[in-house]
This record gives sequence, structure tokens and C-alpha cells, in this order.
Amino acid sequence: MEYLYAQDNLSLGQMAARWVAREILAAPNLVLGLPTGSTPIGMYEYLARLDQEGLISFTQARTFNLDEYVGLTVDHPQSYAYFMREHFWSKVDLPENHVDIPRGDVPDLAVECLRYDEAIRSAGGIGVQILGLGLNGHIGFNEPSHNMEIRTHVVDLTAETIQANTRFFQDSGAVPRQAVTMGVGSIMQADKILLLVSGESKRDILNKTLYGPVNTEVPASVLQLHADLTVLTDIKL
Ligand code: GLP
Repeated sequence: MEYLYAQDNLSLGQMAARWVAREILAAPNLVLGLPTGSTPIGMYEYLARLDQEGLISFTQARTFNLDEYVGLTVDHPQSYAYFMREHFWSKVDLPENHVDIPRGDVPDLAVECLRYDEAIRSAGGIGVQILGLGLNGHIGFNEPSHNMEIRTHVVDLTAETIQANTRFFQDSGAVPRQAVTMGVGSIMQADKILLLVSGESKRDILNKTLYGPVNTEVPASVLQLHADLTVLTDIKL
């Protein structure tokens, strides 16, 4: 594991963007796994700047997002598809048919999960997976549980996650109770993983993730078993 320390959230975004830029320059046809959340916003902003300045290009890259809420259409302002369009897809030269995200608004979610896994498989799997960290140790929306799901699946969000997400919705009753998420297997099969963690509130869970026992109660702890994990954080442990 490599541990990279950033002074603050701003430099975390810049360092993450430079890290990803190096990967794209080395492999322009990279398959990227992408997160949402407040942590990666700075990274997307700097990547867009590097792209607009012509220093990097995503024309040959492909991206797969980790997760999406069940029941929200792609145009819903709180959907992850909307977030990605707003912060990244519309700002870089990624061809429209090179981006994918699970759909949470289709009638048959089981079919959608299979479609998503097949799309990742036929792209050759994830080359570089970027992750945020949930307050309860979730990655994507793989929540603490008695077991770990390997492939894309529908998940019931925990009360803690619903509570954490309430800040984004005007009405707490409107916070989705379920999500579609890439499974832990697809994440762990990535060649490289970059975990982004920002803010004091994540100190305890980052400690458990990196140095606690590997178990399904802290899903991110499984990252300890990955051969090429980089942790970029503004928390000094
Ligand atoms: C959501 C996402 C996760 C993300 C987490 C942390 O639950 N499903 O993929 O890592 O939020 O978000 P933030 O960066 O806002 O703390």
C-alpha cells in the first residue's frame, strides 16, 4: 500500500488529478472506475482543466461508475448520472458511448445488474478504480453486512447512509432507500485502486479500513488485500 498525504482538500483534488493524468498518459485507452460524493469533486475539476488545456485526453478511455440510486432518473438532480454529467462527462472529451453507470430507473434491476457486469467484462475489466469512503466503511454502496456481494447488485442502504445523504435532499423522505452498486469483486479485480479520503470525520473509519481486521462489517477493509492500493488523504494517521 502507498500512503499519500495531502495538506488539505484542495491539494487532495490536485494530487488525485495528477495521479489519474499519469495513468491516462501511460495508457490512453484506460478503463476507469469512478466514484461520486463530495471528496472527488476537486479531482474532476482539475482533470477537466488538464483536459481543456490539451495536456491529457479521454477520447480513448472508458469509464464505469460505481453506483446509482434506485428510483432516480438520469435527469434527477440528485442522481449520480446527473452529478457525473455536471462535474465530469460534460467537461472532458470522453465520447458519450464510452461512459457507463448503472441505471436505477429501469423496471428490471436484475437485468440491469447483469448488463453492467457484462459491459465491464467486455471492456476488459477495470484498469484503475477510484474510490471514496463512506462514513460506515462502504465502498460504492457496498454497505456493512454479514456477507460481501461480488457482482453488481441492488442494496438496501443502511440508516446511517440514508442519514448521511439527507443533506443532499430537500425532503428527508425523498432520500432513496436502495441503490445499484458494483460489487466488491469487480472493485478488487481492478489492476490499481486509488482511495480518496478527506476530512476529520473519516479518521476513525480510515484507521479501521487500513489497519483494522479485514471483515464485512467494514467493507473497505478488504482493500488491505489488494496488491496495488494507493491511499490519498488529508488525514494524518
Ligand atoms: C456515497 C457514495 C460513495 C462515496 C460516499 C462518500 O455514499 N455511494 O461511493 O464514497 O458517498 O461520499 P463523500 O465523499 O461525500 O463523503
